[in-house]
Order: sequence, then C-alpha cells, then structure tokens
Amino acid sequence: MVKNAEYLIYINGKFYPKSEAKISVYDHGLLYGDGVYEAIRAYKGVVFKLKEHIDRLFESAKSIKLDIGLSKKEMEEIVIETLRKNDSKDAYIRIIVTRGVGPMGVDPRNCKKPTIIVIAEPREPIFKKEGIEAMVSSIRRTPIWALDPRIKSLNYLNNVLAKIEALSYGVEEAIMPNEHGYVAEASTENIFIVKNNKIITPPVNAGILKGITRDTVIDIAKELGYEVVERNITVHELFNADEVFVTGTAAEIVPIIKINGRIIGNGSPGPVTRKIMEKYREVCIDPKYGTPIYG
Ligand SMILES: Cc1ncc(COP(=O)(O)O)c(C=O)c1O
Repeated sequence: MVKNAEYLIYINGKFYPKSEAKISVYDHGLLYGDGVYEAIRAYKGVVFKLKEHIDRLFESAKSIKLDIGLSKKEMEEIVIETLRKNDSKDAYIRIIVTRGVGPMGVDPRNCKKPTIIVIAEPREPIFKKEGIEAMVSSIRRTPIWALDPRIKSLNYLNNVLAKIEALSYGVEEAIMPNEHGYVAEASTENIFIVKNNKIITPPVNAGILKGITRDTVIDIAKELGYEVVERNITVHELFNADEVFVTGTAAEIVPIIKINGRIIGNGSPGPVTRKIMEKYREVCIDPKYGTPIYG
C-alpha cells in the first residue's frame, strides 16, 4: 500500500489522489442512487473471485439497463491497475458505476456516459468481535417486485434503515425478513443457520443478494461433508438454531450469538461455523479462486 495513505482513485480513465477524487453533484448516482457497485477483497496479492464479482456487476448493470461501455476484461484490468498503482496486496476494492452526469430528472437518457470509479484501500473486517448480537428488523427487505436485491445498486437506504434500527437498540446487526416474514439477509451480509449439523440458508428468490461469500461458503460446507439446504427460514427457526452466522466480503464470516435477546446455541461461535471460517481463510488466499495482482 502507498505510504502516505493518499490512495489513488480511478475515475473515468484517470487516477486522482484521494483528496482530489471528486465527481459532479449532478451525477445521477448521487441524485437518484442510479448506479451499481461491487465490493471485493484482495488477500496476499490475489483478488478473490474477481471474475465472479465483475460478472455480478455486469448483471446488475444489465438489469438497470446501464451500459458500462467497457468489456469485462477491461474492467478487470482497471481493478488490477488500481491495486498496482497503490502498491497493494491486501485491499478492500470498490467498483462504482453510476448512470453518469445529467440534468435533474430521473430520465436516464439525459446521462450520456457512465461514471466509473475504482477505490482500493485497506479495510479491516467490519465486526471486531468474535460473535455479535443481532436483531430481527422491523424493516423488510425490498421485495423482488420493487427492486430485486440481486441488483447490487447504489440504493442502500433499505439496508441503512435496518442498520440504524439495530444500532439504536444497541446491537450490531439487523436481520431483515422478506415481505412474507421469512428471513432474507442481514444489512450487508447473507445469513446461514446450522441445525442438527445441517446448514440452511435462504434461497436467492427469497429476495437476497446472491453473495459471493455465500456461494463460497456453500461450496466449502459441501466439501466439508455437510448437507446444505437452500430454503425459507422462519424467525422461530432462527431463534432455535444451533448456530447462526452471516457472510459477506466486508464482514467475511461472523457468528451471531444472540438475536432479540435469545441466546443462540450456547452463546459462543459454534463448531460448524468455526470449521467453515477456518477453511474460508485458506480459500480466499488460494490463487486458484482469484486473479493475481502481480502476475
Ligand atoms: C445486502 C447484501 N447482502 C449480502 C452481501 C454479501 O455479498 P458478498 O458475499 O458478495 O460480499 C452484501 C455485500 O455487500 C450485501 O450488500
């Protein structure tokens, strides 16, 4: 990483020091949350599942009819170049693609070219504790018929509101039910429960982001010999699970040890969660799953 922490940020083909990395107040990403993004991590010189993240970015963009104007390969090269410019091996990477600059008004036709931003800087996993406390939020996850959570858009107010609620109740994370009351996901993580050695997670069409950490954890769990089931989970099942954990690029894998005052399992990270966490640490630095920065 560069020493003076003046990280270089990519914006539309150029690199700017962090303090000078600015975009227009007329950018529709700001005015309307009109855009998509990805959050990725690099570990020990390997960008974990970069191709999968770029595929998801392009799927999000297609869904909102946003032409990124670059090939996937070009986007990949920009990410790698940003990491190299910052001399980084371990980083949290953010790709942001907005509708671009245009006059007021949601009409996307007025934005002639997207704004593309890539940031790469160090970031610790977001939860500092070994196990966290969460609450089932009163805020429901956006239904797929309103804004499908599979689209990783710049519209995160639904998630932010759930997080605000959790913090105001003195707990670290919010677990959002979907419109039908089934467990969907946490504010920025997917969720898993363990019951009788079986691993259960909500299906993608329950209205969740198809998390890349989630997919990785499913593969790891199967490889470790666990049965993994994707099905709806009720709040009752959540309270009565043996173990609960959440997964995401920023958080990585985090055990949940208390939900709405109910102690989960014996109140500490469970053995299945621990095994998965251990394997995940091996997988995310394995070049087989990622793209080397300095190839
Ligand atoms: C709403 C939501 N769910 C789940 C996740 C986890 O996805 P991933 O594992 O791809 O980081 C994220 C990540 O930002 C998210 O925002």
